[in-house]
Amino acid sequence: MNKKKQEPQNEIVCDCTGTTKEKILSLIEQNADLDRISSATGACTGCGSCDVVIENLIIEHGKVT
Ligand code: FES
Repeated sequence: MNKKKQEPQNEIVCDCTGTTKEKILSLIEQNADLDRISSATGACTGCGSCDVVIENLIIEHGKVT
């Protein structure tokens, strides 16, 4: 069975700024890249450890051309 893990949308992706996964996914839906997500939410402007997680969300959910 190909059962995908369900993650809560209100999960905090960026601890430094409290940015939620929901917020990031809504920006990805608007075709935002990491730079735009970062300037819109402040994510990746602190310790920077969330950038890999956000990159993965973009790869997973973004409309990569
Ligand atoms: S967790 Fe996002 S900048 Fe630190």
